Amino acid sequence: MSKLFQELAAPGVQRLQPYLPGKPVEELERELGITGSIKLASNENPLGASEKALQAIQHCYKNINYYPDGSAFKLSERLAGKYDIAPSCFTFGNGSNDVLELIARAFLTAEHSAVYSQYAFAVYPIVVQAIGAKANVAPAYDDEHKSMPLGHDPDALIDSIDETTRVVFIANPNNPTGTWMDTGTLNAMLDRVPSNVIVVLDLAYLEYMDDELKPDIKRLLRKYENLIITCTFSKVYALAGLRIGYGISHPDIADLLNRVRQPFNTNLIAQAAALAALDDENHIQQSIRLNNEGKAFLGHELDKLGLACLPSMGNFLTVNMGQHAAPVYDALLNKGVIVRPVANYQMPNYLRITVGTPEQNRRLIEALSGVVT
Ligand SMILES: Cc1ncc(COP(=O)(O)O)c(C=O)c1O
Repeated sequence: MSKLFQELAAPGVQRLQPYLPGKPVEELERELGITGSIKLASNENPLGASEKALQAIQHCYKNINYYPDGSAFKLSERLAGKYDIAPSCFTFGNGSNDVLELIARAFLTAEHSAVYSQYAFAVYPIVVQAIGAKANVAPAYDDEHKSMPLGHDPDALIDSIDETTRVVFIANPNNPTGTWMDTGTLNAMLDRVPSNVIVVLDLAYLEYMDDELKPDIKRLLRKYENLIITCTFSKVYALAGLRIGYGISHPDIADLLNRVRQPFNTNLIAQAAALAALDDENHIQQSIRLNNEGKAFLGHELDKLGLACLPSMGNFLTVNMGQHAAPVYDALLNKGVIVRPVANYQMPNYLRITVGTPEQNRRLIEALSGVVT
């Protein structure tokens, strides 16, 4: 890049590492001249979107000459019913990533810091550094930890809070590790965060968690006024391509987030599809079942190949290749299977594999067996 433009950029932006997305199928097939490849790299729902959501899109797409309802009123009413929380507590985003960015813009400046764990979701450093705020990165548990290797360490998170800290990000479960905090650990940690520090509890994979691990959203928000919970329609609701997610918080926090939000940041089709997806309980349950069965199958087969996975409550498994994972990643690409290297998270020996359909999972295992044995 031109040196001049580098110097023109805001200091935080100059130091930013760009987000590395999963390799698109089209790009791989163009490069290798192959067809029929599969992508298990971006934690999408392999079942596809709900029929109800697709029908809702059919009903509304002719209205795209109109701006959407900027406040996503119908969706906030629907979610208010789902959680038994007032509609004024919701903030909508172009994906929950957008909400994470709104939080950084609303609460951080170059004089402030944010805390997140080592190996935490890559968007936290991006939104924090883009503002020019400081990141206090809390050491994670090491890879020998008994129950949660590479997981968030609540003590380290608390110790990383200083007088400049305005925001703490917790991903539960975290991506790319899949690790989580059980409800007792989470509550004990929230009790220790000063009330003038905003806690962001990122629940992008909430629906995939075992029931006893799911945080009680209404109770938490009532108890901790400094809490923002973020959720997404990209995972179990299978609408990643439409980009829609939301935050739930005290109405005063939602008011602040809505002040920095672009007026029409969630589009008309996404709002209609999200509303319909919420009503398709069959699709949700089928997606969860598919994930649980696929994750069990992959875990078992990877174990047979002598490969250990991190514990995961998400729709992915993060696998220790026992060596630098780049050659394995490349070899899989050559077989038309795209997974996600996580060397950018300083986890060079791991690959993150999204749970696919039974057929995709078998194909992954077949390809991997040819590479690691
Ligand atoms: C932990 C976590 N949070 C948030 C997101 C963002 O999801 P979206 O912006 O699609 O809502 C992801 C996506 O992979 C994620 O893994």
